[in-house]
Amino acid sequence: MDNTDQDFLDSLDLLDKEMEKYIPFVLQDLWELGSIPEYIYQLIDNNIDTKKIKKIMDFGCGKGAVLSYLAKRMEFQGFGIDIVPEFIEFANRHSIENSVNDRLNFSIGDILEYIGRNEKYDMVIYGYDSGLLGDVYNTISQLQNSISDSGYLILEIAFTLDEKERIEGLPAKKELLEQLDKSVLKTVDKIFWDTNKIRTINNQNNHYINKRIQELKKTYPEQTQIFERYISNQMDECKLIENEMICSTWLMSK
Ligand SMILES: C[S@@+](CC[C@H](N)C(=O)[O-])C[C@H]1O[C@@H](n2cnc3c(N)ncnc32)[C@H](O)[C@@H]1O
Repeated sequence: MDNTDQDFLDSLDLLDKEMEKYIPFVLQDLWELGSIPEYIYQLIDNNIDTKKIKKIMDFGCGKGAVLSYLAKRMEFQGFGIDIVPEFIEFANRHSIENSVNDRLNFSIGDILEYIGRNEKYDMVIYGYDSGLLGDVYNTISQLQNSISDSGYLILEIAFTLDEKERIEGLPAKKELLEQLDKSVLKTVDKIFWDTNKIRTINNQNNHYINKRIQELKKTYPEQTQIFERYISNQMDECKLIENEMICSTWLMSK
């Protein structure tokens, strides 16, 4: 398994590669896969003249929940790419059903391939959920190539408080602030996620995920161990998110 594979598994909190093929089934009842679109819109609405945002790219868009939320509130051309074909199929179907398919375009693709292209957007959205683009500093350095001269980056990122135990793959607050500070983009504004809101979302998601895992266990009893490892890791991750991490959304400008 290469690094990109590992980063993909990390982005969806998967411990076993064998779990990958079941993920579209397990997550079929969820739409938002980790982002909180409401916070992204709040940052945009509080700080930017939305008329200036004509083209948005969501790298790792999942099922398109963020762009769809924004499309109800702003006029822009949205592009989303994700490596999971079933997520993209859902995103396109949903935008047809909601008559926003003339404004939103979702494609199967690898962020690593798109990031080197010379295409510029007024806003790029990225969830820092794996080491795919390196540390926060390197991630911003690469993403900024896709942002137009007066454009913006929305970065979702979790970190640990300096006095708490480190969590693998996450920066401590001090490190995060240092990396943001030396990056080529300027911080405009930020939102720290409300823990009660995260808890409510996690409880709801876990209810649906658990239901689908029980179905899988009945259909593929020989894979029970993998399914149980997945659900137990999912619960552990949620506990970490709710108790040990600070989740945040940052608006940065060129
Ligand atoms: C935590 S999910 C967030 C999705 C979306 N922001 C949301 O909240 O609905 C991360 C997404 O990144 C995608 N992903 C991971 N690695 C990728 C890559 N190399 N290229 C494209 N998408 C990738 C995953 O398939 C997954 O849908």
